[in-house]
Amino acid sequence: MYDIAKIRADFPILSREINGKPLVYLDNGASAQKPRVVVDAMSDLYLNDYANVHRGLHTLSNISTEKYESTRAIVARFLGVKNEDEIIFTTGATEGINLVSYGWAAPNLQPGDEILLSVMEHHANIVPWHFLRERQGVVLKWVEPEPDGSLPPEKVLEAITDRTKLIAIAHMSNVLGTKVDVASIAKAAREKGIATLVDGSQAAVHGPVDVDAIGADFYVITGHKLYGPSGSGAIHIRSERMAQMRPFMGGGDMIDTVTRDSVTYNTPPMKFEAGTPGIVQQIGMGVALEYMMGVGMENIAAHERDLRDYAQAKLAGLNWLSLQGTAADKGAIFSFTLSGPAHPHDISTILDKRGVAVRAGQHCAGPLMDWLGVTATARASFGMYNTRDEVDALISALELCHDLLG
Ligand code: ALA
Repeated sequence: MYDIAKIRADFPILSREINGKPLVYLDNGASAQKPRVVVDAMSDLYLNDYANVHRGLHTLSNISTEKYESTRAIVARFLGVKNEDEIIFTTGATEGINLVSYGWAAPNLQPGDEILLSVMEHHANIVPWHFLRERQGVVLKWVEPEPDGSLPPEKVLEAITDRTKLIAIAHMSNVLGTKVDVASIAKAAREKGIATLVDGSQAAVHGPVDVDAIGADFYVITGHKLYGPSGSGAIHIRSERMAQMRPFMGGGDMIDTVTRDSVTYNTPPMKFEAGTPGIVQQIGMGVALEYMMGVGMENIAAHERDLRDYAQAKLAGLNWLSLQGTAADKGAIFSFTLSGPAHPHDISTILDKRGVAVRAGQHCAGPLMDWLGVTATARASFGMYNTRDEVDALISALELCHDLLG
């Protein structure tokens, strides 16, 4: 049984009020709230066990190192990855994708080589590729979804040419909630020698992922959306691709020897983790992943499917609301606009008066906004602790918006 009352009690912030109303937190796509176990583990580390990692031979350094490195095993287990040395810690999805852009793509792609992207990508999976377009003449090719927001793998595969070197694609859209069959894309791409990067920033939050089974070369996650701290994250990189990469950031930890005239590098994963890492953040992310696995990723997915179906039916009943993205089996993420002059920023402000937190704007997805033909949307994105009552609160607050602005 999914004990929603217990789960909600684990997240202290959910019991606070906003503008005199109970908080209804529906901005999980931007960042999720943190369970007490995560905050307690981080506080305990700072208060009792903290020292730098990989450097000291003293007790505290050994404890911190042991906790930090055991987090790598937790991430590997969470992602279904057998070889934990293929897990690199990052500060989040943005650093993970930049690592691939600077470390793998820049030295391996030539002018005229192509990177395939969907128009549903968020800016973290767009701008690092624009750098390569600007700096070394790499060509960005764009694949558009179907009108309902679905993205059949064939549509991506049809866009491959003999210059395609990389397909970089979100596993789940942060705006539309569309799930993409990335395993089929990765399999077909591998047969053609094309690399694949999957941005799992959203998908990994909402259900189980099996990264080894997906078979992409690069799979990115970010801790702050996974109920962990901001500044935490990881990327899985298949060993064959790691062997083709040069380091990204230079500094301590990623080196073997440094002299006045030369530098040699540590072996992966350390080769790609420069400087003092986000020790406490990464350990906090590990606790968050353990928390999710404790609840059960299948259970979380089932709970969110129920919320999705309930919310979709209620939103569909509002004939003055236009929903963007209705792909089958989408995640519980709803972007919408209201008919009439209501701007999404106004919607968000009015909802906030009712304690309902949603995001309004471009959602870091400029090309998708262009494709949708809007300048902005409002977005309600659900998480493991949301309830049907909160869907009702959203609907009631939207009705108020319609009365005021419609
Ligand atoms: N990409 C994040 C979002 O969807 C920040 O809001």
